Amino acid sequence: MFRRMILSLVFFLGIVPSMARESRGHISVVLLGATGDLAKKYLWQGLFQLYLDEVSNGHTFTFHGAATADLEKGRRLMYGHLKNLACPLDVPPDRCAMLKDQFLRLTEYRQLKTEEDYASLNREIRTVLDQEDLEEVGRIFYFSVPPFAYGEIARHINSSCRPPTGAWLRVVLEKPFGQDLQSAQQLAEELKTFFKEEEVYRVDHYLGKQTVAHILPFRDQNRKHLDPIWNRHHVERVEIVLKETVDVKNRTSFYEEYGVIRDVLQNHLTEVLMLLTMELPANVSNSEDVLRHKLQTFASLQGLERSSIVLGQYEAYNSHVREELQKGQDYFSRTPTFAGVLVHLDNLRWEGVPFILTSGKVLDERVGYVRVLFKNRAYCTQHETTWDAKESQCKPKQLIFYIGHGELNSPAILVSRNLFKPTMPQGTWKELLDRPQLRLFGHSISDYYAYVPVADLDAYAVLISHIYHGKKESFVTTENLLAAWGFWNRLLTNWVNEVPRVYPGGQENGHLLDFEIIGGEVSFVMKETLEVMDAKNGQTPDQYKTIQSRFRQSRLITAWSEELIAHLAADIEKVAISTVSRSGSFHVALSGGSSPLALFKQLVLHHYGFPWRHTHLWLVDERCVPLDDPESNFGNLYEHLIRHVRVPYFNVHPMPVHLNRRLCVEEDKGPELYANEIGALVANASFDLVLLGLGADGHTASLFPHSSVGLEGNQEVIFTESPVKPHQRMTFALPFINKARRVWVLVMGKGKHDIVTVVSRAGNEPKKWPISGVNPTSGQIAWYVDYEALLG
Ligand code: BG6
Repeated sequence: MFRRMILSLVFFLGIVPSMARESRGHISVVLLGATGDLAKKYLWQGLFQLYLDEVSNGHTFTFHGAATADLEKGRRLMYGHLKNLACPLDVPPDRCAMLKDQFLRLTEYRQLKTEEDYASLNREIRTVLDQEDLEEVGRIFYFSVPPFAYGEIARHINSSCRPPTGAWLRVVLEKPFGQDLQSAQQLAEELKTFFKEEEVYRVDHYLGKQTVAHILPFRDQNRKHLDPIWNRHHVERVEIVLKETVDVKNRTSFYEEYGVIRDVLQNHLTEVLMLLTMELPANVSNSEDVLRHKLQTFASLQGLERSSIVLGQYEAYNSHVREELQKGQDYFSRTPTFAGVLVHLDNLRWEGVPFILTSGKVLDERVGYVRVLFKNRAYCTQHETTWDAKESQCKPKQLIFYIGHGELNSPAILVSRNLFKPTMPQGTWKELLDRPQLRLFGHSISDYYAYVPVADLDAYAVLISHIYHGKKESFVTTENLLAAWGFWNRLLTNWVNEVPRVYPGGQENGHLLDFEIIGGEVSFVMKETLEVMDAKNGQTPDQYKTIQSRFRQSRLITAWSEELIAHLAADIEKVAISTVSRSGSFHVALSGGSSPLALFKQLVLHHYGFPWRHTHLWLVDERCVPLDDPESNFGNLYEHLIRHVRVPYFNVHPMPVHLNRRLCVEEDKGPELYANEIGALVANASFDLVLLGLGADGHTASLFPHSSVGLEGNQEVIFTESPVKPHQRMTFALPFINKARRVWVLVMGKGKHDIVTVVSRAGNEPKKWPISGVNPTSGQIAWYVDYEALLG
């Protein structure tokens, strides 16, 4: 039945008979998972649409629905799905019936399980095409199957079902593509053994949504208006939102492993973020350029921190999991079903602009959109009732890519009238004029230029057409995939399983999931009313006061770490202000390590009166690595402090570990150079403040136990060896540290408790514990030690 009819069907249909005789070639489409849910909902309809769109262009097609079910069952299920195919609205019913009939005749079901099944499919395709005298153009294999099946199917296709030379192969994969960076890498490696990169089409159906697919063309066609404002000086913030009302009932076996970050943010919302933020290539239809620019933007994403996210879980989720996964009453899932994430980009265009990514299940509404909110600088002197949407600069200025659902219930692009009148493609988008009562984002629709697509196209139909046309930019390449996992991996490894905030669901959520951004940190607006009591004396921790006492006969300041850091930052600011007013400049030398990072953050976020303009930043020690190496002390100082404050460039003094294109070589005289620079700028080479840390072995700066290097002598700066990597270091010598006017030592965390105890009793034994040799000759020393380090 199925054989010998491809051409005759084309004739029968009355579709370009002359071309069919000289067919431009044949395409076989194999849908693996043809009886499944995705196939039922979207894929068969997408393939039918492809057939309708393309058959008139002279190509011929056959469609092979495949699954592991036997013929009878498979056919029954698959033809059940095919009953629901629909034609576009403008096709008259009788023609539609005919087209459907033709499509069905070109479609067969087959069981594909073994290598031999694939080999036999291959033979049949070849035989039919030979009989019909048709040239084979290509084969599409659409994997609508769970990822665990990918490997075997890929192997069979590669070994037994590849098209002949000259015809292309396109394999289409559905997410999930791994669960984290490592598993994605493994999967990618495995696929690489069977397919070339250009043969793989990874679907992210968001890239087929009409509005999402139009982001780049929109930016391109409106360059004239967007170029001046598509940057940090004009954009206040960008919201990328996918809210859903559904729960994940019947999907928990998948969802419990994935959660909202892996299910939606890592893929859909990240892809949208890239389309918004990437530098536009000259030609936005050039797949390679688009992908290259996208990858560059991935490289600009700033790493996520714990404070970049808030997580939630709808209340009924846990019972859904217990029921479906047969878990006991003591099972408490931590899988988040809601997430709000703050993303920053570290490039000149977007630095400082918050990109807020939000998604969740069982929320109050179903809607997807991107909202770009521009800064409003105008001050309007007239009463707001007279503001004109087009002229008033006081009305909000926003650009909205409305992905779907919500009040509009359609994809749309909206531009505030006081921004610009956008250029939209004729024929595919039209102005939305028939809903004057509608309000969106607090404003009447009449305040926007609003456009909707002329015809609603399903994302899968769009993507299937793009597969057929080889438009690679609509798909996720391996590099792109790994870059996305790379970005989310830190969050997934460290924080995604922290206890999420439980929310009741729907309207009842009230303001429970609202979050705010303060100083680059995200937190829920409504705080949870949980009181942590101190077991011993019933006090809440913040009732502790900073205790001032003595440590090694010197001033000791101790508190919980947060409070301690606040105290230290305030003390540094005080000293800086008084020093600047007395001598005009403040010279501080800072240590590396992790403890000072919290201090830097505190200084950045809470000390706007700090005299940075007159502050000189020096380093106490440095690792012999390039300055942009993650191990570099200066690199960290730059990342966490310098780039956020207004220290003049010429007041920043990295240690010269990298000279003559080599690291820490004696004859390059790095230590001497640094000592000379200090001598030239710091009065009496005596620092106003030296901030030290304490290692668990008693080391301080880069002066390590069991070595006498740097404990005595006149040399200010020296090379030393560390027992841990990177071994080579440059450091202030002990006598030079002791010349400072103030030396403050910051010690935090339980891991330091033992050494703090030892040092508290030790005498002056710098060879054993270099810290014990810190004893300023005419300056003062103070110890900032948190409770955990002090009390264990
Ligand atoms: C899918 C997720 O990829 O996208 C689902 O697995 C989510 O959890 C869906 O519901 C959202 O897509 P759409 O097209 O309904 O917005």
